[in-house]
Amino acid sequence: MSGAARHKEANSCNSLYGKDLLDIRDLDKDQIKFLMRRADTMLGALNSSKRLDPLKNMILGKLFFEESTRTRQSFEIAIQKLGGGYTGFNSDKETSVMKGESLADTIKVMSLMYADVLVLRHPDEGAGREAATHSDVPVINAGDGVGQHPTQALLDLFTLRMEKGRMKDLNIAIVGDLANGRTVHSLAYALALFNNNMTFIAPPELQLPRRIISDLKNNYSISTQKTSSIEAALDVDVIYMTRIQRERFKKPEDYARFASSYTIDEDFMSKAREGTIVMHPGPRLTEISPKIDSLPGSVYFRQASYGVPVRMAILKSLLVK
Ligand code: CP
Repeated sequence: MSGAARHKEANSCNSLYGKDLLDIRDLDKDQIKFLMRRADTMLGALNSSKRLDPLKNMILGKLFFEESTRTRQSFEIAIQKLGGGYTGFNSDKETSVMKGESLADTIKVMSLMYADVLVLRHPDEGAGREAATHSDVPVINAGDGVGQHPTQALLDLFTLRMEKGRMKDLNIAIVGDLANGRTVHSLAYALALFNNNMTFIAPPELQLPRRIISDLKNNYSISTQKTSSIEAALDVDVIYMTRIQRERFKKPEDYARFASSYTIDEDFMSKAREGTIVMHPGPRLTEISPKIDSLPGSVYFRQASYGVPVRMAILKSLLVK
């Protein structure tokens, strides 16, 4: 059995050690706070150019069946900043999946080849959970179709702490394609855990799935607001914009109908509450005008950069006792 395999089986005082991270609901409040504190330390080390090597000789296996800029690069940077390395693929086009190999076999091969952790992005909801059943080493879901994107939710919480000074008791408007956006499916649960007030702004056809809204109410005692009017984002602490997810529409004409649903620009921000920050998981299309990029509250590029310390914190926690 490889060292990596032993990680998954061992008991540990670090409650994240050896675990998979597939869904933000896998984490409780204390585990999230632990990761936030670790991310603070990682950010401090990055800013001081201090060399860290707790993951020396460890290998991250990246399995990206779908495109990515931020998530993939930040995992690659995070493992190297911790003294480890990576292997894997950026597209299934370069793998034996093209010859018909199954996800299960691909995962088995990677986990038995001494990778210490697998990071999977896949177009199918539930692929991360399926992968975990075939892996001897921890699996991180880096986005599964319209399902979940838990590491994005963690970096979003970290962004709130950095930019608003807290990740609780905030008024947050979440805007865009909430039916298909996996980042918001994870974020909504993370925000609920810390008692934030959420307003979901979307065309009725692209609203947050009813099962998530009911879950927030029944299991988190959080009542939320729903509207299609962007005006509801004028009086909040945080505007979390998302793009309309072109790749999830079956017909181009359906995408075209919603593509320009919302844009926030200088005029909109001039009417917004003072101190409001604007976040976006990326990639940004037309929903945020580049003309507001230089406003102090436009934090979406810094938000992407926080992916590195947060993913360093996650990797260290899953891989070191
Ligand atoms: N936020 C996010 O998942 O971005 P990428 O698709 O670029 O990884």
